[in-house]
Amino acid sequence: MTDRLFSTFKLGPIELANRVVMSPMTRSRAIGNVPNDLMATYYAQRAEAGLIITEGTSPSPNGLGYARIPGLFDEAHVAGWKKVTTAVHDAGSRVFVQLMHTGRVGHANNLPSGARVLAPSAVVAPGTMYTDQAGPQEHPVPVAMTDAEVEATIEEHVQASKLAIEAGFDGVELHGANGYLIEQFLNTASNQRTDRWGGSVENRARFALEVARRSAEAIGADRLGIRLSPYGAFGGMVADAETDALYAHLATELGKLKLVYVHVVDHSSMGTPPVPDAIKSTIRAKFGGTIVLSGGYDKARAEADLLAEKGELVAFGRPFLANPKLVSKLKSGDALAQADMSTAYTPGEKGYTDYPA
Ligand SMILES: Cc1cc2nc3c(=O)[nH]c(=O)nc-3n(C[C@H](O)[C@H](O)[C@H](O)COP(=O)(O)O)c2cc1C
Repeated sequence: MTDRLFSTFKLGPIELANRVVMSPMTRSRAIGNVPNDLMATYYAQRAEAGLIITEGTSPSPNGLGYARIPGLFDEAHVAGWKKVTTAVHDAGSRVFVQLMHTGRVGHANNLPSGARVLAPSAVVAPGTMYTDQAGPQEHPVPVAMTDAEVEATIEEHVQASKLAIEAGFDGVELHGANGYLIEQFLNTASNQRTDRWGGSVENRARFALEVARRSAEAIGADRLGIRLSPYGAFGGMVADAETDALYAHLATELGKLKLVYVHVVDHSSMGTPPVPDAIKSTIRAKFGGTIVLSGGYDKARAEADLLAEKGELVAFGRPFLANPKLVSKLKSGDALAQADMSTAYTPGEKGYTDYPA
């Protein structure tokens, strides 16, 4: 019997060799925010995945909230990413870039000069942010964006999407999850605006949908996916009485835009509250297109959820850290190596490209 997980899949215009997706994972190896040869090696090592989604990558100087994360808004970034896309394609896989604007989750120490920690409202994110200069620092009170800044930030996403195609990416994933800028607009914990970008479900969804609509116009909806984390708690996000209505509306509208996939996050395997099955079913039904499942998957659960038609693709995150040849191991049933999480975000090869294949 052939496993569905290892069968091919047509994602928009591209063919994936299998249904295993490598989850987006920040690794903080982009010194000066520019992708490099080491990153190309890391991604090429993991090219057995049918599709790789890169680490969160900022479309704006203002979105580089973490230390050493890559950008995608100038020519040096495009040249750096070309190394990655070429290496992954040469190794036989496909790769989407995840566009992550960190919004209020950031610190001035991590930003280039002139950049600012922006958010829908001047509401501070809980917890601290690591900086190379001074270790962990309290999140700053973010600057509430003006209407013109909201428009400019949407445009930054559109430009980054175009640069992604120029850099050779097969597509773009918008990071609408995990408490970063797009979710900061969606969520009442971080969005207290009273203009057309806040308040009602429709208004809070407007930023996500405008970024999606205009990026899709620029590169084609069949090259644009989005990641969402309903009931997520990262970055101080909270669920409320309108959460179900919000995600139902989003999924409906994203379906009308014909995005190539919705990638649903469930971080209960990382200790956050469980995501109700009902909201996942609602998103699937209202969106109507390809669903990427994620969070705590092993082979058996992936196979079961594919057979149960909960989604078409399954993303694996932490298992890829220490198992570059994860697909081979899932096929053979070999035991998986455990990653050393102390080197998850440290610069250099150690705990990055030195896990045995
Ligand atoms: C080191 C690390 C970095 C991560 N960075 C990102 C990121 O940049 N963007 C994102 O959407 N999720 C990020 N995540 C979450 C993963 O994509 C994934 O949802 C999570 O690890 C749960 O899946 P898993 O159980 O297969 O690991 C990260 C997770 C880890 C462990």
